[in-house]
Formats: sequence, structure tokens, C-alpha cells
Amino acid sequence: MNIAIDGPAGAGKSTVARKVAEQLGYVYIDTGAMYRAVTLCAQRANVATNQNTKLADLVKSLEIELEPGETGQSVFVNGENVTALIRTREVTLQVSHVAANETVREVLGIMQRRLAKRKGVVMDGRDIGSHVLPDAELKVFLTASVKERALRRYREIADSQNITLEQLETEIADRDRLDEQRDISPLVCASDAIVLDSTAMTIDEVINAIVKLSRTKMAEAK
Ligand code: DC
Repeated sequence: MNIAIDGPAGAGKSTVARKVAEQLGYVYIDTGAMYRAVTLCAQRANVATNQNTKLADLVKSLEIELEPGETGQSVFVNGENVTALIRTREVTLQVSHVAANETVREVLGIMQRRLAKRKGVVMDGRDIGSHVLPDAELKVFLTASVKERALRRYREIADSQNITLEQLETEIADRDRLDEQRDISPLVCASDAIVLDSTAMTIDEVINAIVKLSRTKMAEAK
């Protein structure tokens, strides 16, 4: 079966999705990494987020590959390993704008559906359950309070990126707003998704809850 995990930035989706995939022997697909890869390439090519035609041409010229590895997923664009480069603040601050572009979403959506065709994937993003894989057998909407999400990011990156907790909180709230309010495939909770609020949960508790839900779904399907 396919498992869709959606939710706002910093809710723990990627860690959780990767571990759930590991436990089930599934393939993990981080769709946010694909939007980040396009953003990095747009920045390098000096294509602004409002240059729709140029952005559309750019995304069509990219071959994005995701490779699972020991410490997470590696991301390649046209053969170049961009795994670390797509996690910088410059990319993070612009990615929601790039993700609002219709053609970018269309092209990446096609790639994502192709990756999930043979089933057995855990895909995380914003619109997976609602738009990319509406038939996913299990849909989870993973969320947490803005404060908690900012705190988690702060613990991860504060040392390396010289940023305050307040700045992070504002940036996360801004990104939520952009992701929720865009016209095309906004961040929404699919009507048949199970909502998990991880504010007061540990990562392991969230992983166990999703693995349990997927085993129940698999048993029901037999
Ligand atoms: O999960 P992330 O923070 O790496 O995602 C980066 C951005 O990409 C996020 O601001 C929203 C966008 N995104 C999206 O619009 N749709 C997806 N399926 C995944 C990510």
C-alpha cells in the first residue's frame, strides 16, 4: 500500500516517514526535497519566483533523483548531489514561493505519482493525501504547535545557522501561511486523513502510532 504523510513545516514528517518506511521495508520519498531542489536550481540560474515561463522551462529540464542511504535520503539533480545544498536558509526562505508555481507542481506531481506507482512507498509533503495520491491506503496529517515546531528546528540548526528562536517561529508561521493559502494544491488535511498532533509526543511514539495504523490497514485489506 501507499502511505501519505502531510503536515506543516517542522512537524517531524521526514524523520517519521523515513523511520516508518524503514520498519515496513518501504521506500521513503521526501517531496519537499524535490521542491527544494528546484528552488536551488532557480537561484543558481537567477530565475525569480514570479518568472513563470522561465521557472516552468527550468523544472522541465531537471532530472531529480532520490536515493535512500544509511543516514537519510540523498538528492541528485541532473547527476549532481545537492543533498546538503537544498537545506540552506536561502533555499528554505524561498521554497514556498517556488512551490506555489503551477507548472512546478504539475511536473513534480507527475514524478511523484510515477515513484508511487508500484506501491510500497511512504511519501511526505503537503498535498500528498489530498492531491498527489488521493487513493493512498493510509493518510496521516502530522502536526504540532508553531512554538514546538520552531523549538525543534532551533535545536537542529541554531548552532550552524546563527538564528534566534523568535526568528524561526516567525519564519515557520510565514511558511505555513504561504503553504496554506496558495491557490494550487494548498496544505490541507485530506478529509480521510488521520490527524496526529505530535506536540506532546516523542518521535518514537509517532512512528509507533503510524506503524500500528498501517498494520491495521494491511490486516483490513486481507
Ligand atoms: O518539507 P519541507 O520543509 O522540506 O518542504 C519545503 C517546501 O516545499 C515547503 O515550504 C512547502 C513545499 N512543499 C509543497 O508545497 N508540497 C509538497 N508536497 C512538499 C513540499
